[in-house]
Amino acid sequence: METVLLCNNDEQLQKAAEMIKTGLVVGIPTETVYGLGADALNENAVRSIFAAKGRPADNPLIVHLADFSQAVNYTAYIPDLAYRLAERFCPGPLTMVLPKNERIPFVTSGGLETVGIRVPSHPVMHRIIELSGCPIAAPSANISGYPSPTSAQHVMRDMNGRISAVVDGGQSEFGIESTVISFDNEKTVRILRPGSVTKEMLLEVCDSVIIDPAILNGLGENDTAASPGMKYKHYSPMAETIMIESSLDDFVKYVGEHSDENTYSLIFDNDKDNFPYKHLTYGAESESQAHLLFGRLRELDEIGAKKVYVRAPSCSGVGLAVYNRLIRAAGFEVIRI
Ligand code: TXA
Ligand code: MG
Repeated sequence: METVLLCNNDEQLQKAAEMIKTGLVVGIPTETVYGLGADALNENAVRSIFAAKGRPADNPLIVHLADFSQAVNYTAYIPDLAYRLAERFCPGPLTMVLPKNERIPFVTSGGLETVGIRVPSHPVMHRIIELSGCPIAAPSANISGYPSPTSAQHVMRDMNGRISAVVDGGQSEFGIESTVISFDNEKTVRILRPGSVTKEMLLEVCDSVIIDPAILNGLGENDTAASPGMKYKHYSPMAETIMIESSLDDFVKYVGEHSDENTYSLIFDNDKDNFPYKHLTYGAESESQAHLLFGRLRELDEIGAKKVYVRAPSCSGVGLAVYNRLIRAAGFEVIRI
């Protein structure tokens, strides 16, 4: 199939919306990462998303709405706390897992009785939802397991020939996927995937916020996943990725002793004057690291890196999300010096 690249004008957004209405799959920009969008209520369209990504059928899709007030149409129950969170964080990079109603097909929910609801703030995604009149199911627009796309070019590289169109809405603002939460009770939420809405921000609205242990430690052999996405390899470039928690001096020493010509490092902006080996940089503080990370992991593959040593980021604030993506890319192995 031919994949057309559409630009951000009203005529082309109309075209994208028409495609979605007729059951096709379109790559769409959001403020977090690009998504592979289709009508969440159309089982065949949703199957095409799973096929294009090579995604396991039990890994559910997030349903994107133009406004949180529409969530009542697709859910069986919405706690008061969800409304308060929506007031503070919607539209934006937050996904709330809620009990689904019968309108959401099990294909979309990966067989679960729940559905992830998100109200994206990106004007292009917002407009396409409105023009299509559909709730849009959209996972990140990467081949399953690979780093998420933060530009239309990334989506084209992964999806050319597999989907009907990609809409170019520029670089994704946040660069990492939304924070996914579920509700343990009326006052407590559980972070299933960290993102740009941080624990500290959630605590402005919730009495307590639990960080699911699998975020930092992965799943043990007998653990059940609170979110199916936790079970699968994700965010990994082709290159072997190794995270190192150490001082810059120890990092330089370790890399010097363990490199060959295909080894690269991913370091902080401020490190580069004191770093004598092949490298790319990924920002200085957590927000810019989040913005740059996935693009850098893709660049490392393009320049032929076979092994990548990464400077471990801080775990506070948005840093937890950056750390989570990297520790998963590294298969939960960290070298601590
Ligand atoms: O920022 C984002 O969330 C992007 C953009 C496109 O909106 N979407 C995204 O979707 O990252 P995806 O499918 O790549 O990741 C969704 C994650 C998966 O790990 C999935 O297992 C989890 O959210 N998830 C979705 N629905 C769930 C549910 N009902 N219960 C538990 N986890 C769920
Ligand atoms: Mg994904």
